[in-house]
Amino acid sequence: MQAPLTDMRSSRQSARDTASLRWPGDAQSRVPAWIYSDPEIFAREMQVFHHGPTWNLVAAECELPVAGSWKRSSIADKSVLVTRDQNGEIHVMENRCTHRGIALCWKHRGQSRSIVCPYHNWTFDLKGALKGVPFEHGTKGAGGMPESFDKAQHGLRKLAVTVRGAAVWASFSDNPPAFEDYVGPVLPVMDRITTNRRPKLLGTSRQVIDCNWKLWMENARDGYHATLLHTFLPAFGLLQPDTPMGQITPHEGHVITGQYLPVRDKTAADPTAAARPAGSRFLLNDMDVVTTAHDEFGDNQNIGFQLFPGAMYRQHLNIPSYRQIIPRGPRRTEVQWTIFGDESDDEEMTLLRLKQANLVGPAGFVLVEDSEVLAKIQASVESYPESVQVTEMGGSDAGKTQRLVAENGIRAFYTYYRAAMGL
Ligand code: FES
Ligand SMILES: [Fe+2]
Repeated sequence: MQAPLTDMRSSRQSARDTASLRWPGDAQSRVPAWIYSDPEIFAREMQVFHHGPTWNLVAAECELPVAGSWKRSSIADKSVLVTRDQNGEIHVMENRCTHRGIALCWKHRGQSRSIVCPYHNWTFDLKGALKGVPFEHGTKGAGGMPESFDKAQHGLRKLAVTVRGAAVWASFSDNPPAFEDYVGPVLPVMDRITTNRRPKLLGTSRQVIDCNWKLWMENARDGYHATLLHTFLPAFGLLQPDTPMGQITPHEGHVITGQYLPVRDKTAADPTAAARPAGSRFLLNDMDVVTTAHDEFGDNQNIGFQLFPGAMYRQHLNIPSYRQIIPRGPRRTEVQWTIFGDESDDEEMTLLRLKQANLVGPAGFVLVEDSEVLAKIQASVESYPESVQVTEMGGSDAGKTQRLVAENGIRAFYTYYRAAMGL
């Protein structure tokens, strides 16, 4: 006789609890598929990382240009508000009314002097203090809140905040590590973004991908797929398998990547010819997208970083961007791009940056392919949770590398991840 459905479910559950939740061997170059869909693993990740003692990207500072600017943001599933008060100071607080819990702010960004809850109009200032309660003293002298009600006790819950590297970082922890200690060797790369520069917002985009957040983080650490999946890049000489690419995996799961800017002779008939594979005949109507790259940092390098658990800074040609990788569930991830230029840009430079920005983002020449691939991996890992992935390109260590064709960054991710998760 066939077992009842409930029995079948529970026996499958116990099989998962015992055998499959063990990491395969001790090799850091193996990744079990169940980590991408298991709901308990996901819940633990949120507790340990995103809601724990980590620093999370919530905004580029240029998204809050003037006093009164605010942005609705997220740290994983928790909605937060980022504000710039009348003194120019930046705050991050829960986007949750302290009266009945409704999300206070429903729009992406704006500018105002205060935050008014849509439900019963409790009013908070931009520091999160509760300033006004309608009918606090009742109607016609009767009712209202009790004498003991103290507005000072009902402000919005505030998060720890640091502004650095042209970005706003926040932590849910009451006792987060010092920001400088947390980011460690990433700090000079962050400071490079603002050295002699004043970032100016050029645009934002957002996309929801049907994949686990770790798949996105891995993809961004795996440079060599870009020479194979993204045919646009080698076709126009933007990336080759032997492109010099440094990758440093400092600590706490972070990674720093560096790559030299492609140098072009724009006066040549086909400025990309020397860097392109022989026989490549692809052409664009407007070659500016790939032929022009200013060395605006004066070191001929595009340097970026990924900060655990969900932040990334990357510069493609002249398009610096921050990306927030926001888990929306075990199999759903939202990616938000913030692209910026510099206050000193003239119109020509702004136009160039916007053209180059066609490389990145949900509908760009390049990254559109990642979304497709990641969703396909997710479907596969869910069907085969007992399967194991191999990340052995370039060896099995998780240290720094000078090669693009390497999976050191992924191995470093899981070395840190396993230790923090106790897996
Ligand atoms: S829920 Fe916000 S004022 Fe009532
Ligand atoms: Fe990619």
